[in-house]
Amino acid sequence: MKKFLETVSEEMKAAFEKAGYDRELGKVSVSNRPDLCEFQCNGAMAGAKIYKKAPIMIANEIVEQLKDSGCFSEAEAVMPGFLNLKLNPAFVKKYLEEMNQAERFGVETPGKTETIVIDYGGPNVAKPLHVGHLRPAIIGESIKRIERYVGHKVIGDVHLGDWGMPLGQIITELRERKPDLIYFDESYEGEYPEEPPFTIAELEEIYPCASGKCKKDEEYKARALQATADLQSGRRGYRAIWKHILKVSVTDLKKNYEKLDVHFDLWMGESDVDDLIPGMVEDLKKGGYAYYSDGALVVDVKEESDKKELPPCIVLKSDGAANYETTDLATILYREREFAPDAILYVVDKRQELHFVQVFRTAKKSGIARESTSLEFIGFGTMNSANGTAIKTRDGGVLRLEYLLRQIEDQMYEKIRENKELPEEEAHETARKVALAAIKYGDLSNQASKDYIFDLERFTSFEGDTGPYLLYTMVRIKSILNKYRESGKSTEGLELNVPEEKAEKELMTELAGFGAMIETAAVERAPHKVCAYVYAVANAFNSFYHGTKILSEEDEKKQQGYIALLTLTLRLLESSIELLGFEAPERM
Ligand code: ARG
Repeated sequence: MKKFLETVSEEMKAAFEKAGYDRELGKVSVSNRPDLCEFQCNGAMAGAKIYKKAPIMIANEIVEQLKDSGCFSEAEAVMPGFLNLKLNPAFVKKYLEEMNQAERFGVETPGKTETIVIDYGGPNVAKPLHVGHLRPAIIGESIKRIERYVGHKVIGDVHLGDWGMPLGQIITELRERKPDLIYFDESYEGEYPEEPPFTIAELEEIYPCASGKCKKDEEYKARALQATADLQSGRRGYRAIWKHILKVSVTDLKKNYEKLDVHFDLWMGESDVDDLIPGMVEDLKKGGYAYYSDGALVVDVKEESDKKELPPCIVLKSDGAANYETTDLATILYREREFAPDAILYVVDKRQELHFVQVFRTAKKSGIARESTSLEFIGFGTMNSANGTAIKTRDGGVLRLEYLLRQIEDQMYEKIRENKELPEEEAHETARKVALAAIKYGDLSNQASKDYIFDLERFTSFEGDTGPYLLYTMVRIKSILNKYRESGKSTEGLELNVPEEKAEKELMTELAGFGAMIETAAVERAPHKVCAYVYAVANAFNSFYHGTKILSEEDEKKQQGYIALLTLTLRLLESSIELLGFEAPERM
């Protein structure tokens, strides 16, 4: 289905053509003077230069052509040559009826269905999820859902940090504490136990302890490095411990992502591409891309147009070990072979941008990534507390995601119970939904690249540009629809009104923008566009609601039109918030 503004522009273009002008001049946009008109067209102004004619003359001719237009109820030429437009209410209704009937509200599948890999999440094993993991999870999940909605084939990969130094550190510390474990006996050739030699709680304590010791103790650090190298070169006992670490961690991570309603298609990690590294490194050398510099193997990635100095990409450290660049390059190689994607998106902290520039350039120049593969870094900004610093626990530690979520849920639970009598269980479920909406919307309504303030007070408010406000609006619609049904009437198959009042027409016009919004959000990988849409729709709905008697309307046909409009509004809001990764409760 054509997008709303395109349909409107189509009418205007026809008018320009009929009057003897270039049809492309007939582009219509939303009015920047909503007090004067709903839409506008500045084509006569642009045409004046081409046709050497006063713009107002052209505008007048266009108005003449639009006399019996079904699209515009008002078209006025105003000095010096603007076209001020109002839409015919019947036209708006017709468009919405079509949208209402169409699958996915008439959103067209893009000309080419792309295969897109999204790399988001990026947690590291043996470390609990903390507030810092919120942004990639929330943003990545939403982009995944948006791209999928428009019809692309999308693969979400968590890309675990499960290889390298931290693992060597954990093994070293475990050995300190339990030297007699069978895993450390090099002469042992039997099977290793199924049961892990630690719990998740122990693991989460072991890792920071080991990493702390490495910073202070050179000898300890050397042992950890050795353990890392032994693990990577395949020492049986270490591999067995590593598998335990992975299993215990992934079980815990899955549980926590589940709570955020974030779901990955792939649970792969850095370790999964380890096998590809030797061959890849060989090819980099053979192709003449990589050379040794101070013992390290590097690839030059400088380009003439660079404004800043760009250091070479290190593909092997001087001790011959792989690093973060190496695993990311090998992962691109893997993804190319496995999926031949059109794009790989990385939703990662924007402070890692340099790393990705180096990796992308190396991948492109060496052919690890095909020329046609779009490698995109979607760097997100920092989430700060109200006083501008990073978010910490009260005693300055890292704030676990689990605790933060529970804290917000509890807060919402109290608020909901104050508002409304709900059975205990429903109140908890509702609190969970509202809390998630508060956090996710608070994040997604900002452009991803910007830093933002994690202002819980504001995010959880039932008023203003917040998740709970949206849910509240949706619950309000649900409640009206329920009351209507309770009076014995059906909400199915009703026809929209030709809108008579301003608020009804404005709500309809706002809804009609869904197609254009979703297309832009997908192309720009921009969930904040979805937020802007739902907020505008919620506001338009609430204006309509406050000025209209819906349930007490006596004209039955008209009332049915209202109910049809409410039903469509709710469906569009539901689809939109699903793209943002949260859902609305029945009551709150
Ligand atoms: N584990 C990494 C970190 O904690 C983030 C991974 C991001 N994705 C990637 N392909 N590098 O910084």
